[in-house]
Amino acid sequence: MSNTANLELEGKTYSLPVVSGSENEKAIAIGSLRDTTGYITLDDGYGNTGSCSSKITFIDGEKGILRYRGIPIEELSEKSSFIETAYLLIYGELPDHAQLRAFSDLLTQNANLHEDMKHHFEGFPPNAHPMAILSAMINASSCFYPGLMGRANKERFDIHAARLLSQVRTIAAFSYRKSRGLPTMYPKPVYKYTANFLHMMFSEPYQDYQLKPEVVKALDLIFLLHADHEQNCSTATVRMVASSQANLFACAAAGVCALWGPLHGGANQAVIEMLQDIHESGDDGSRFIQAAKDKNSGQKLMGFGHRVYKNYDPRAKIIKVACDNLLNTLHVSDPLLDIAKHLEEAALRDDYFVSRKLYPNVDFYSGIIMRALGIPVEMFTVIFAIGRMPGWIANFKEILDDPKSRIYRPRQVYQGPTLRPYVSIDQRP
Ligand code: CMC
Repeated sequence: MSNTANLELEGKTYSLPVVSGSENEKAIAIGSLRDTTGYITLDDGYGNTGSCSSKITFIDGEKGILRYRGIPIEELSEKSSFIETAYLLIYGELPDHAQLRAFSDLLTQNANLHEDMKHHFEGFPPNAHPMAILSAMINASSCFYPGLMGRANKERFDIHAARLLSQVRTIAAFSYRKSRGLPTMYPKPVYKYTANFLHMMFSEPYQDYQLKPEVVKALDLIFLLHADHEQNCSTATVRMVASSQANLFACAAAGVCALWGPLHGGANQAVIEMLQDIHESGDDGSRFIQAAKDKNSGQKLMGFGHRVYKNYDPRAKIIKVACDNLLNTLHVSDPLLDIAKHLEEAALRDDYFVSRKLYPNVDFYSGIIMRALGIPVEMFTVIFAIGRMPGWIANFKEILDDPKSRIYRPRQVYQGPTLRPYVSIDQRP
């Protein structure tokens, strides 16, 4: 197999190195292209661009494979927990007992926000979207812990990472309580990560939330399934910001903003809103499918399609089963689940979706689980953000640990006006 690719341009041949990944993915390294040829590559939306080499997550979109640090998502979701998986993503290996205990202790010690941060929550209007609060408050954290400012050095990385992972959940719960005019609940050291989040969301000063193991397990699974997904929009954003040597909290706040959009993490909220609309309109989904196929309708089948998966998203498969199990265990019957299943069946029979290889993605069923857990719809993307935090931190660390890391700075093909003079205001047409 050749390890160079030849490019012919204006009668000359240029050899470009071919790079192979550990799963035999092939890439043409074009780092010298502009210097040697004067040309750059153009790849709108980065569909064909490898922006980095990474050892964290592997996806084979054609086969529907997802692995964190080599371990299949199916195995992790059956045998691991969110926090153990977070450790795996960030540090590269599954922890032993002592490492896991030390990591959990660090999370517990860092769960509380700086007390003065509470005043900031007062400044948001009651209907503020929790994603806006989350991003703002993550960024504000760096003001309260001056050690966070500047680039995290390697010695301080563990504490910064633990603080972020632990506090994102505290900030998320506080923002929900604030938006409902409810008193904030402090984290309790006796609870593990996910149980503590549910406690901060739903306990009252006069009554602790009754934690059901199946509820904790279902939410832990949701976090775990969202924990990383290689170079998606928000993770690429985190890496972009990290490449300028901004601090970890600034990078994560940027990641939250990128995640918010309905084509990315915001899709989980959009899916439930779509299912609710279909339910209220009395449609079984057929009319909606017709509209989603019509480019002029401005509608898409939310929770369907993926840039990388051209097969069933493995996370969606796991979530669909978990969704059925949870609803059965809790004796919940949700009409939106029936509509979602009907939509899926209809879409997977329809040539429009089949020919474009559009399958349900992670967001299609996750909202139905979250509804059953009592999580309000405006918090769905926040749950995604909590889950994605280990992936963002792991990607940040990869840049931090790379002595050759350079600032990310794409180029462009300029299509604007060519040179022209400035015209003073009274002479403009
Ligand atoms: N409904 C209807 N048509 C669709 C959909 C959809 N959900 N997704 C893609 N298409 C069509 C698209 O219009 C295009 O058609 P044509 O070839 O005729 O122009 C074709 O399928 C290829 O799609 P694309 O827009 O080129 O795909 P993309 O890779 O640029 O976008 C996507 C990927 C996920 C943004 C898109 O599939 C989408 O908007 N899906 C709905 C939103 C969603 O569920 N997002 C969550 C993604 S998974 C979790 C995450 O990463 O956050």
